[in-house]
Amino acid sequence: MPLSNERRRACVTAVAAALPERRVTNQELAHQVDTTDEWIVSRTGIRERRLVEPGTGLSALAIPAARRCLEKAGVAAADLDGIIVATISGDQIMPAVANLVQHALGANNAWGYDLLNACNGFVAALSTATCFIEAGRAERILVIGGDVMSSIVDWKDRNTCVLFGDGCGAVLVEAAAPGSGNGVVGFELHSDGGKGDDLSLPCAGSLKPPAWAKGHFIHQNGRVVFQNAVRRMTEVVDSLMGAYSLTKDDIDLLVPHQANLRIIEPIAERIGLPMDKVVINIDRLANTTAATIPLALADAEADGRLKVGTRVMLVAFGGGLTWGACYLRWGR
Ligand code: UT7
Repeated sequence: MPLSNERRRACVTAVAAALPERRVTNQELAHQVDTTDEWIVSRTGIRERRLVEPGTGLSALAIPAARRCLEKAGVAAADLDGIIVATISGDQIMPAVANLVQHALGANNAWGYDLLNACNGFVAALSTATCFIEAGRAERILVIGGDVMSSIVDWKDRNTCVLFGDGCGAVLVEAAAPGSGNGVVGFELHSDGGKGDDLSLPCAGSLKPPAWAKGHFIHQNGRVVFQNAVRRMTEVVDSLMGAYSLTKDDIDLLVPHQANLRIIEPIAERIGLPMDKVVINIDRLANTTAATIPLALADAEADGRLKVGTRVMLVAFGGGLTWGACYLRWGR
């Protein structure tokens, strides 16, 4: 739907990150599996990642990220209406991480649930929050994207274990009056369940319960996922740009999901954006799944590239297969 000044706006007013202390370099992984720093850097752009200590749940990152986000916004936890956590690696299936965050913050007026959409999770959660706010069903929603990927990768499988990292980011989405200049302009979400097996976590659900230990790890058909990622992320950005008559000059910052630098570069090239307008954190953080985009937003804010009024295109792709994009003007 084209942007109308009559509509209530969902504005992203603050961002915060929480990362584990422990840095693990490619060289360290080369002691564990048959790989090299050269292979990992040249194939993916990853140089190091942050990992939690084993036995740490996502809430240990989500709670501090949420607290910092509210502090930055100057908003009391009691003023939140909802909390959505995008993740595929919550502490437990039940209760949801959103409920753990709600309790820890004392957000006593907020509902909360986790949203399972893999690497597209943050874009999906932000889109969901936008709908609540535009419909007048909420005033303030905390949207969190985070994953403890170290808990669901097979540390003996070089095809996957070198790719991922742990981390969490949170944004506050608040209502603004119609006519306000900033806020979410539009979004698009897609899925293709036919390719679900190309990126899966088979044994965590009802079909194959977790007791089937080996299947409790990420499985990925890297090449198929790579080709689909480049194609679908490019398509969805093109489509959103078309829907809102945007040109490359309307994008100040591209904040893509960080699965592979070789996926990000052709997307930027296709849009016609120089790489200095693209936020990259994969070199330092690897693929943190639902956390890549909010962590990249936090970096861009810290280095001064993201300010009130900055026009941002978010785009993600992941298991499902699912993909989506969201275009917004930062701040209120
Ligand atoms: O975030 C959710 C979405 N995920 C993605 O978007 C990821 C998409 N896929 C990719 O980014 C890439 O496909 C990967 C990074 C996963 C793999 O890169 P690739 O260039 O497609 O490599 P490949 O899987 O085709 O493997 C090439 C070779 C193989 O050896 P052979 O069969 O040619 O002898 C692999 O066994 O590289 C080997 N290999 C490794 N070698 C050293 C695979 N992993 C490693 C490794 N170290 N860690």
